[in-house]
This record gives sequence, C-alpha cells and structure tokens, in this order.
Amino acid sequence: YINEEQMEDYLFKIVLIGDSAVGKSNLLARFARDEFYSNSKSTIGVEFQTQKIDIEGKEIKAQIWDTAGQERFRAVTSAYYRGAVGALLVYDISRRQTFDSIGRWLNELHTHSDMNVVTILVGNKSDLKDAREVSTAEGKVLAEAQGLFFMETSALDSSNVSAAFQTVVKEIY
Ligand code: GTP
Ligand code: MG
Repeated sequence: YINEEQMEDYLFKIVLIGDSAVGKSNLLARFARDEFYSNSKSTIGVEFQTQKIDIEGKEIKAQIWDTAGQERFRAVTSAYYRGAVGALLVYDISRRQTFDSIGRWLNELHTHSDMNVVTILVGNKSDLKDAREVSTAEGKVLAEAQGLFFMETSALDSSNVSAAFQTVVKEIY
C-alpha cells in the first residue's frame, strides 16, 4: 500500500521502443520540452528525462527512457527494461517496415520486463498524410489483438503526444 505522500515521490519508469527514426526522441522532446528537431541524429546509448505529469489534479513524476532503435547503438537491453512500468511502442505510419517490427519489439519487452507493463502502440508521424503506408485501422487491430492501448501521434505538429504519455501514466496510477 502506498499513501499519497509516498506516491508523489514515486518515479514511474517508462521506456520508448521501436525501430530507428520512428521519432522516439522527438516524441520525448516534444513532451518534455515542447521542442522538435527536424534533423535529429540517432540516439546513442540511453537518455532519460524526468517529467511531471498531471493526472486528475495530482502530480506524478515519470522517468522516460529513450534508446536507439538500431542494435549497435543500443543500451544494455536488460538494464533498459529493468523496473519499467510503462512502454510506448512506436512505429512510423509512413514506413510499413517499422510496423512489421512491432512483434519483435513486443517479444523483447515481454522477455525483459513484467508482463503487466502498461503498453501503448503509437503510430507516429500522423502529419505525413500523403506518405501513409499503415492505416489507422491496421494499427487499431494490432493493438486490440495484443491488448495494447493505441494512438496516432505527431511529434511535428504535437497531436496526441501528451495524450499518449498520459494514457500510460493514468493506467499505471
Ligand atoms: P533512433 O534514435 O535512431 O532510434 O531514432 P528515433 O526513433 O529517436 O527518431 P528521431 O526522433 O530521431 O526522429 C527521426 C526523424 O524523424 C527526424 O528527422 C525527425 O525530425 C523526424 N520525425 C520525428 N517525429 C516526426 C513526426 O511526428 N513527423 C514528421 N514528419 N517527422 C518526424
Ligand atoms: Mg532517438
């Protein structure tokens, strides 16, 4: 049992996962600092940000972890997932290949973390309407089949970015 005072000091660890260049780092930059980098470099190793999140008038602290999608730049897998209570599993709606990788990321998540980790499937770059390769319906179907929350986001135009993080934190809390 955790009382309210202890809850305020509690850090929820949330991990960002998904293929390289799907926009994980920019989702975090948009959420934590309201920034966007049109020319961002691949993440090397691991970065994290602590962010206060308002849930039903209460302030919750989330520690959001970000690593590289590319194997050779990644943080030590087991350490990355250790203690995570939430995950954003990100693909790029304009690159089907990144959607096809979701199964692999889910396997890794389930291998290295608690089965109960609250997970949202995130189709990022919803602003790229003309380049879309994965329909919203396909994303929804996969999320339902895997028991995940689902949202399409754009780190570029900000749509649903806070909502995606909040969905996870709200469910954990
Ligand atoms: P790794 O660190 O290599 O795993 O990549 P990442 O998933 O962190 O991707 P990153 O955030 O670095 O973004 C990759 C590229 O996509 C950058 O050029 C971003 O500007 C661009 N990008 C990220 N989010 C969006 C978005 O919502 N819309 C559009 N149009 N571009 C985006
Ligand atoms: Mg990155």
